[in-house]
Amino acid sequence: MKPVRIAPSILSADFAKLGEEVRAIDAAGADWIHVDVMDGHFVPNISFGPAVMKAVRPYTDKPFDVHLMIAPVDRYLDAFADAGADCITVHVEAGPHIHRSIQHIKGLGLRAGVVLNPGTPAKMLDYLIDTVDLVLVMSVNPGFGGQHFIPSQLKKIAAIRKMIDASGRDIDLEVDGGIDVETAKLAIAAGADALVAGTATFRGGPDAYAANIRALRGE
Ligand code: DX5
Ligand code: ZN
Repeated sequence: MKPVRIAPSILSADFAKLGEEVRAIDAAGADWIHVDVMDGHFVPNISFGPAVMKAVRPYTDKPFDVHLMIAPVDRYLDAFADAGADCITVHVEAGPHIHRSIQHIKGLGLRAGVVLNPGTPAKMLDYLIDTVDLVLVMSVNPGFGGQHFIPSQLKKIAAIRKMIDASGRDIDLEVDGGIDVETAKLAIAAGADALVAGTATFRGGPDAYAANIRALRGE
């Protein structure tokens, strides 16, 4: 297993000083910067778009892990590539052409991820696992930070761990939603090797970020 990567979600950052917040989580030991993009249509909340992401991109050299909760998604992929994405992750539920979206992301020279909502079965990956670089399992219904982890997703994480191992490919297995010190342990035990954490990273303000991230790693 790879060491667990921690990806703080800047959805929980102070938007009035987003650049400084990104710099602070970088210094605190974040592995990736998780960027939650919401359109008020695919999910019932609006966050920010590529222009905001581009503005904060110079504040760190760490990879930008971009989670698009928008539909349709294809017409925005180039803009997020231009804004500095390293990995773009798209929902299988966001449109009928998920394979095309993955191909588009790969064609932009980026890592491509696919994400499953809590009600979506692991079998949706059957014909995607040979192309993706990352699978993201939602452990809450997407749209908001600060929700409770849905325990039924542990079984799905374990099933996808088996699929990834059987594929022989280097695919990250990331979990998103309700991750705290306790649920981080459960997700890792089920096979996750990357964890998104919004509330649990940003709780307590900048002085607490490093300790918060260490705690999520189980240190
Ligand atoms: C939910 C987002 C998550 C969320 C995580 O739609 O994809 O990344 O912000 O927030 P916490 O860690 O607070 O559950
Ligand atoms: Zn997310």
